[in-house]
Amino acid sequence: MDQFGCLFCQSTYPGDPYSTFCPQCREPLLLHSGQEKKTIHSEKSNSLERYLDFLPLSTIETPLLLGQRETPLIPLYRLKKEFTLPQVFVKNETVNPTGSFKDRGTVVAVQNSVQFGITKIGTVSTGNMASSTAAFGARAGLKTIVLVKEDTALEKIIATSIYNPILIKVRGDYGRLFYGSLELGKKLNIRFMNSVDPYRIEGYKITSFEIHEQLRPHAPQYVIAPVSSGGHIIGLMKAFIELQTHGLIEQMPKFIGVQAEGCSPITQAFKAQKDRVERIEKAETIAHAISNPDPPGGNLLLKLMREYGGEMMTVDDPEILSAQKTLAEYEGIFCQPASATTLAALLKLNKKNALSAEDRIVLIITGTGLKSLPKNGALSARIHQTDVDHLEQTLSFLDA
Ligand SMILES: Cc1ncc(COP(=O)(O)O)c(C=O)c1O
Ligand SMILES: [Zn+2]
Repeated sequence: MDQFGCLFCQSTYPGDPYSTFCPQCREPLLLHSGQEKKTIHSEKSNSLERYLDFLPLSTIETPLLLGQRETPLIPLYRLKKEFTLPQVFVKNETVNPTGSFKDRGTVVAVQNSVQFGITKIGTVSTGNMASSTAAFGARAGLKTIVLVKEDTALEKIIATSIYNPILIKVRGDYGRLFYGSLELGKKLNIRFMNSVDPYRIEGYKITSFEIHEQLRPHAPQYVIAPVSSGGHIIGLMKAFIELQTHGLIEQMPKFIGVQAEGCSPITQAFKAQKDRVERIEKAETIAHAISNPDPPGGNLLLKLMREYGGEMMTVDDPEILSAQKTLAEYEGIFCQPASATTLAALLKLNKKNALSAEDRIVLIITGTGLKSLPKNGALSARIHQTDVDHLEQTLSFLDA
């Protein structure tokens, strides 16, 4: 049976997917990785099977997958030249089945639910996690419940509603909804897999394992990822910690978590050297996907950042939008504002000469821009107009 552990009080608990917070500390529990020898099964092409020894799954139910493979690790040649950067790579999570990294976690939580014989799953989200959970729930034939805040705009729900989950708009505080869903899930046998769910976090580890293998024989010096609830980057870090524990790497990369200036409770606590995150009152940023004012994984992330030499930073909305445009224009990668925070942070660090030319840096590009198009229909490129008779003239003019 799986074992959960609390990094705050060191208690261990039997792995129960309905009880995912430490009852004493109210902090997220993590799966114990176990001491037995772990091997990467290099002969397997599917990442879940390749890294099975590191995952809380006995087998992989391949029919429940959506054909996902490892995501590309892309070197940024043009940006490197333009901004005199070290070696930068994008881990392109936008190519996951529903367009974001959330699929990494959902797939493990859904596989685990099926192995537990669970038939009802749920999540509390308005964005990427909602559509990811609804898609994999549909694929597995599970009843899927998605709870959204009352004021969530319809356009944000469209990419989820297509999978036909049970969608419920809930009035009231989002924080209470998050924890309340877990309590009710236990009572009503609905397996809520929210942002810091331990099995979801196990799925996020796969991204790091892939980076490790894709960069070999080299290792990354930095991994930069956007942060909201904290679950994703905790999973990315946990994978490298496990690789080190099992003697597969010598050194951990330095993790840099990025938040938007308009919603940066974890960074504020980190900079003030506090070990508790204080909820902020109002989140205001273009990067909606990372605007959790009361992050449930915040304290745990602060602890990991301190123990493993990581760092938290912020970027503002103009920096985010400019980075989003730059990544698309120079490298052909269209990401969400939340994901563009990573490039914005890199450019900021580069300006401060905080990086060395030999560094290998991985930006985790977490979600596709197609899922968060600008509301006002603003276009990045100018549109030229002509008629068919004058097309040649227009094209020659543009060429000049
Ligand atoms: C595109 C994108 N990037 C980053 C994050 C941050 O992940 P986490 O909440 O696990 O910190 C989210 C969360 O929803 C997201 O949707
Ligand atoms: Zn505890």
